[in-house]
Amino acid sequence: MVPPAATASTSVQGSPQTPASVGSPSAPAVKDPAKDTILTPRFYTTDFDAMAAMDLRPNEAELEAICEEFRKDYNRHHFVRNEEFEGAADKLDPQTRRVFVEFLEQSCTSEFSGFLLYKELSRRIKQKNPLLAECFAHMARDEARHAGFLNKSMADFGLQLDLGFLTANKAYTYFKPKFIFYATYLSEKIGYWRYIAIYRHLEKHPESKIFPIFNFFENWCQDENRHGDFFDALMKAQPDTVRGFTARLWCRFFLLAVFATMYVRDVARKEFYEALGLDAREYDKEVIIKTNETSARVFPVVLDVENPRFWIRLERLVRNNDSLSAVDAADGPAPIKALRKLPFWGANALEMAKLFLMAPIRSEAFQPAVR
Ligand SMILES: [Fe+2]
Ligand SMILES: [Fe+2]
Repeated sequence: MVPPAATASTSVQGSPQTPASVGSPSAPAVKDPAKDTILTPRFYTTDFDAMAAMDLRPNEAELEAICEEFRKDYNRHHFVRNEEFEGAADKLDPQTRRVFVEFLEQSCTSEFSGFLLYKELSRRIKQKNPLLAECFAHMARDEARHAGFLNKSMADFGLQLDLGFLTANKAYTYFKPKFIFYATYLSEKIGYWRYIAIYRHLEKHPESKIFPIFNFFENWCQDENRHGDFFDALMKAQPDTVRGFTARLWCRFFLLAVFATMYVRDVARKEFYEALGLDAREYDKEVIIKTNETSARVFPVVLDVENPRFWIRLERLVRNNDSLSAVDAADGPAPIKALRKLPFWGANALEMAKLFLMAPIRSEAFQPAVR
């Protein structure tokens, strides 16, 4: 499942360039990748032949226009570190430092996962589908910059993610192209809203800007927005991905999976948001509402996030997740732990099923003007 070429061709700024530099006295320590859970960022692979054979004609003009935007490379000179970074890491207290490094690691991993997928796609479909390949190449360029910039900030804390190791050792999840579209579209748009929400909050509360990397978020999130628009146009070029009964079910499923995962993960890491003067729940609520609204531009249905029951059920997932973590932290043999976890897993499955079965909102009713 591992795209073979992805291992050899990684040249992300700020990643360890050669094995010799890793762990040498002058180089930052290599951080062990965080343990894989359902909440950690995933690496994806897909059916490259199906992607190569994709007919773009139903929306070629829009895709061509988006590619032209990518070619302009607006952020070519944006990701340059300045003197503000000098000594910034030393100003954080140990608790903030810990949660901030976790944030950097998670963000770096998910940016890097985008880089790997887009790079591999552009390489594999180059001959048969040059327009799509070029778009993916430009997006890989952006994600490499993002991941590299985050990894340099990790180096400020004396740590670095070994992206080569991650490439070769992380499990890759296989998704059919249409599932890649739903998942990446959502992760790009949610990325946009996450970055811009933090940026705007810190603009109003500069005293909470704990690290200079946040100054870069405004232009950065525009990259994610453009990437999201690309997938929007791509789904419109393959209209069956966003048309019909099955598509409606899948869109509901992906919206729910992405929102629920983010909510549970962010509430579990609320200390990071507190360090920025944000309430994790309020922040996530805003990001979910905005992403849901944006998704109505392309998905045939969106979730009823105005319904209070939606949030009550997400809170139950949070509580179950706390209980699961408590079992994990306790002593005891693995089979006993698994038995003790069983009721919470069951409760989570039930809550997810109830969330999934909540009546969705048809997008044409939600955003008639755009559609
Ligand atoms: Fe990115
Ligand atoms: Fe992106």
